[in-house]
Amino acid sequence: MKVPTPFLILLSAVVTRSLKVVSKRGSVDGCTDWSVDYLKYKVLLGEPVRIKCALFYGYIRANYTHAQSAGLSLMWYKSTGHGDFEEPISFDGLRMSKEEDAIWFRPTELQDVGLYSCVLRNSSYCMKVSMSLTVAENDSDLCYNSRMRYFEKAELSKSKEISCPDIEDYVQPGKDPEIIWYKECRPKQWRQSIVNRKDTLSIQDVREDDIGNYTCELQFGAFVVRRTTELLVTGRSSVTAGLQSRSLWYLG
Ligand SMILES: *[C@@H]1O[C@H](CO)[C@@H](O)[C@H](O)[C@H]1NC(C)=O
Ligand SMILES: *[C@@H]1O[C@H](CO)[C@@H](O)[C@H](O)[C@H]1NC(C)=O
Ligand SMILES: *[C@@H]1O[C@H](CO)[C@@H](O)[C@H](O)[C@H]1NC(C)=O
Ligand SMILES: *[C@@H]1O[C@H](CO)[C@@H](O)[C@H](O)[C@H]1NC(C)=O
Repeated sequence: MKVPTPFLILLSAVVTRSLKVVSKRGSVDGCTDWSVDYLKYKVLLGEPVRIKCALFYGYIRANYTHAQSAGLSLMWYKSTGHGDFEEPISFDGLRMSKEEDAIWFRPTELQDVGLYSCVLRNSSYCMKVSMSLTVAENDSDLCYNSRMRYFEKAELSKSKEISCPDIEDYVQPGKDPEIIWYKECRPKQWRQSIVNRKDTLSIQDVREDDIGNYTCELQFGAFVVRRTTELLVTGRSSVTAGLQSRSLWYLG
């Protein structure tokens, strides 16, 4: 997954270059701009998040320590959208802090929505990439925002594992995360054939009523982090499913 991305980004950077020179003139002179990284950060209001400078994850070989000892400095800017004015970020060191190659928000607020650009430079070299952050409130009476769900499919009577996605930044290395799982935002007595192990809810025999929204919840300091996955349950036989879609194809 990681390898081809810079090329895709390079392609789009080439395509949009003429536009960018006009809209971003003067913001960062003489800088190679990789535009917006494919990885989008999406969190619920009040959750903590760590935005990593993507330059160190697929654009250049060096890591932060390496770049720093080579005399390059890393700076962060924020804008509210494409082509908007980029302002340097002032970190209060409490809610928002710069830590190595990342910004930590502990926690996020609605005003944090925007594009975050990291610029790595010395007097003769400059690279830049932007990361987008979306902060959204949960839907009313729900513990998630339905536009920020993950999706999984399971087959009837087969087994299925639902993992709690994108939580690496909140788990201490070598420690198992303590995760509570909810279904339709309610705590649940899971039947015996559903096991909660590490970051995974493991269903041994998928039933029709397993369909629905699974939320995992993880404590991180004073905050909680939640991820919601909608599980769809499909028919037992993939042959039948194939026939169904084929007949639909003929009908259509
Ligand atoms: C950074 O890169 C250097 C040299 O390539 C390596 O020795 C070091 O372990 C790396 N540091 C981290 C934190 O990954
Ligand atoms: C700036 O950084 C680049 C890339 O690490 C390096 O090749 C170059 O020598 C540096 N220039 C100065 C003036 O330090
Ligand atoms: C939804 O979000 C609001 C605002 O952050 C919070 O007060 C409320 O507890 C959340 N609702 C649920 C069910 O988690
Ligand atoms: C899952 O969530 C969506 C969006 O909130 C909702 O429309 C749907 O009915 C939920 N599924 C179940 C089985 O409750």
